[in-house]
Amino acid sequence: MDNKNRVQELTELDKKHFLHPTSSIKQQQEDGPAFIFSEGKGIYLYDVLGNKIMDGMSSLWNVNIGHGRKEIAEAATEQMSKLAFSSCFSTFSNEPVIKLAEKISQITPGDLNTTFFTSGGSESNDTAIKLVRHYWILKGEKDRKKIISRKKSYHGLAMGATNATGLKPFRDFSNTFSPDFCHVDDLSIEALIELIEKEGPETIAAFISEPVQGAGGVHVPSMNYFKECRKICDKYGILFIADEVITGFGRTGKYFGMEHYGVIPDIMCFAKGVTSGYAQLGGVVISKKIHEDLIELSTDTFLHGYTYSGHPTACAVALRNIQVIEEENLIENARLMGEEMLKGFKWLQQEQNIVGEVRGLGLLGAIELVKNQGTNERFNKPLAPLVVNEAAKRGLICRSVVFEGQDTLVFSPPLIINKQEINKMIEIISDSLSVVKQKNYEKELI
Ligand SMILES: Cc1ncc(COP(=O)(O)O)c(C=O)c1O
Repeated sequence: MDNKNRVQELTELDKKHFLHPTSSIKQQQEDGPAFIFSEGKGIYLYDVLGNKIMDGMSSLWNVNIGHGRKEIAEAATEQMSKLAFSSCFSTFSNEPVIKLAEKISQITPGDLNTTFFTSGGSESNDTAIKLVRHYWILKGEKDRKKIISRKKSYHGLAMGATNATGLKPFRDFSNTFSPDFCHVDDLSIEALIELIEKEGPETIAAFISEPVQGAGGVHVPSMNYFKECRKICDKYGILFIADEVITGFGRTGKYFGMEHYGVIPDIMCFAKGVTSGYAQLGGVVISKKIHEDLIELSTDTFLHGYTYSGHPTACAVALRNIQVIEEENLIENARLMGEEMLKGFKWLQQEQNIVGEVRGLGLLGAIELVKNQGTNERFNKPLAPLVVNEAAKRGLICRSVVFEGQDTLVFSPPLIINKQEINKMIEIISDSLSVVKQKNYEKELI
């Protein structure tokens, strides 16, 4: 069968048998898969037709060390051949999980010291939510069960994580509005205090936030914001959870995003970059204090766990991945290339009159599209999805964010990217913006 027929056959099967995550079902039926990927190498993906495309999103903000790393495959093979899986329930353990837990305690800031492992980001946030509620039961403050999160936040799509997610369409989707979840205005400290006072501090278990909001449009708060949040949490006895699922493991130019703000959370959730996507793994790191309290106050079984909590192969992959991040200085590269990327965005701002605010921290970046640079007025219809399509045609994957009136392009390339590749990325964005602008002027859409 030639390649074209193969794609046709796969397309029909995809439409019929595969329900895609976070997708437009109608578009899938009309267009079929945009790409059927078959290979990855460095910052590039290749599809079954041999097309090469730059992965400007590290796939889902996660392939930090890039695609096709043989050393990771070897680490997985070695561990799978010895012991692919064994349970960590009860007091069973395995060597990779112990070593990884130790490594994570060394690289996380402050007294974050002990890790509960999961299979991904949503499970990590669900775990953190259940864990803080359990903690308050043990501390004799059973009423403390409310979780405060920020509007425009994304914490994943398991039940607890969906409830915590501030972007409302994700909750509307399945009518998910459980009690005891509150969403606070994005950047306002006053709003946070007001909400706590209104709800009653004695009913609030934890505040959760991403250091940089990712899926909500790459929003970087002011350097003071989290310091203030930390102070407020301490004042009212509220636990502070950092959702480092995107920002962890070097993405922002530091090991963990909260380090930029000089804030140490009580609990930190991670996933994605811990394995760069080579295996499914996430986790929740708790402070020494919380761990000691749990040890002292627990009288019964800790009734929370997943089959794959502490999966030996996933943990071996994570250890090797972290070794690559450290040996290749990828955190420093993320910082330096992040500066290059932002420079490129600022150049675009001058070259293209539809580029509004640009922002970034390390290799997380965003470009807002506006009708008028002076007034920030938006187009009637968002242009970012059209730019994403044009960029894909020119060999670059990026993403659009159109929630809550935004018209934004977001980027999150692998931490191994170099200056030349950043320049190529900027060139493709520039060409794509020009084409979209042209087409839309012609159609008088803007
Ligand atoms: C900040 C944040 N938290 C949690 C999640 C959920 O992670 P997962 O999709 O692995 O469940 C994501 C996913 O993008 C995320 O960006």
